[in-house]
Amino acid sequence: MKLNLRVWRQKNSGAEGAMVTYEVDGVSPDMSFLEMLDTLNEDLILRGEDPVAFDHDCREGICGACSLVIDGDAHGPERTTTCQLHMRSFRDGDTIDVEPWRASAFPV
Ligand code: FES
Repeated sequence: MKLNLRVWRQKNSGAEGAMVTYEVDGVSPDMSFLEMLDTLNEDLILRGEDPVAFDHDCREGICGACSLVIDGDAHGPERTTTCQLHMRSFRDGDTIDVEPWRASAFPV
């Protein structure tokens, strides 16, 4: 699958942020959303750019640390944890918005 990601990038809580578009190719439908972001980050690091920061711990749907807003929904379209959201929930060529939670309890 090839996807277009529009990712909220913000250096820190005091900096101005913006959506930045990235193309991610070679995504397997069996990857989790976090594994897809790992693929993006490997490409960003190879290009000398900052990787996309996101919280995670267990990657097994237990801890609840993987908190992202995906296409406007907390954790994305499947109502599960982001680490248990698989890319088969999306279609080849989709554009997906990825943002942090916008809550004072979860500062950027
Ligand atoms: S990383 Fe623990 S629930 Fe997702």
